[in-house]
Amino acid sequence: MTGDGVAEPSKSGAAGPADSDVAGPSESGVAGPADSGVAGSSDGGLLVEWLAPKAAALESRGLTRRLRARAADEVLIDLASNDYLGLARDPRVIEAAVAAVREWGASATASRLVTGTTALHAELESSLAAYAGQSSGLVFSSGYLANLGVITALGGPGTLLVSDEHVHASIVDACRLSRSRVEIVPHNDVEAVGKALAERNEPHAVVLIESVYSVLGDAAPLEALSAVALEHGAVLLVDEAHGLGVTGNGHGSVHAAGLAGLDHVIVTMTLSKSLASQGGAVLGPAVLREHLINRARPFIFDTGLNPAACAAALAALRVLIDEPTRPDTIHTTAARLAAACNVTPSAGAVVSVPMPGPREAVHAASLCLENGVRVGSFRPPSVPDGISRLRLTAHAGLSTDDLDRACAVITTAIKEAS
Ligand SMILES: Cc1ncc(COP(=O)(O)O)c(C=O)c1O
Repeated sequence: MTGDGVAEPSKSGAAGPADSDVAGPSESGVAGPADSGVAGSSDGGLLVEWLAPKAAALESRGLTRRLRARAADEVLIDLASNDYLGLARDPRVIEAAVAAVREWGASATASRLVTGTTALHAELESSLAAYAGQSSGLVFSSGYLANLGVITALGGPGTLLVSDEHVHASIVDACRLSRSRVEIVPHNDVEAVGKALAERNEPHAVVLIESVYSVLGDAAPLEALSAVALEHGAVLLVDEAHGLGVTGNGHGSVHAAGLAGLDHVIVTMTLSKSLASQGGAVLGPAVLREHLINRARPFIFDTGLNPAACAAALAALRVLIDEPTRPDTIHTTAARLAAACNVTPSAGAVVSVPMPGPREAVHAASLCLENGVRVGSFRPPSVPDGISRLRLTAHAGLSTDDLDRACAVITTAIKEAS
């Protein structure tokens, strides 16, 4: 989520026509030195000529994104952040991060294979794996890099990647980097996945999905996809960014579906949503972990996750284990928000409300903000189907009064903006 609480640039659909209309080389109009004044001058002449038309094109379509720094003492009802379990300001999580800084210092000091692996990394990896029912885990410095790392390390000319059309941008980018042939299949279409797998020439294949989709908020048919992958000798990679901590009483959708620990199932996750920290992980068989340590470039050539982030995620995981009903409140809040906005209840924390267009979505989000409620919005290119939406995230720990007030503000804003 961006700092403006309005745009969500981290989401993007499959191999992006929506991306390409933002920055096409044909629009570049690069100016020569004669146009840009003194070579190397700091007035930005060359870049202004290059980029200003692109900025104007975005502005004319209502798609400009802006950063707005939030204040630490801001008093808004938060329905925009990804702090699903409400743990980012939990004293136990904060204290663990502070203690880790005191013990380990402010930095991991190097990449994981040099000095960047601490006892905290090791504990976090085994704890995450145990909680999700997987045999091993490997922590990356973000969920984005976890997807990039595992998909590129499994990809290549001998691997077909079969990707759902609505997967997150990090999976899309991993596909692009992987040098694999990529088949993009319609959303949640098990038959199309089977067909792509059956018709392949590559010896290996990986099916790429999310357990709970970040834009639509719906769930993947995990059992059917696992079965079709197994039938065709393929691996199923499930991004549980929106599942772990939320679905399956917190243990995630793969665990709930009885697929945890199967040797053709891989889970990727982020530590930055339910676990209130930063970082990501790949969970799966030990042989995969070994392969990633040796082959995943975003793991090998990146500084290890900050010890404070490891400790915060571990503390949040402990809270989740000690308070197993915490995820329930996410679902009751999400159901209430969905009912207020007259949309289908979501499988996770994100309630996605279609809006007539990007301007209406931004206007509605601004009206909410003016009335003390922070919500997000999805606009192209973040939405693979091109439909702008309000993005409401349900949080554990929201009081009934706040929820009542938020529902009233949001429904009024939607009416006014549409
Ligand atoms: C489905 C999905 N995968 C991966 C990520 C990336 O995680 P991180 O923010 O830890 O890089 C996100 C975050 O928005 C996500 O929604």
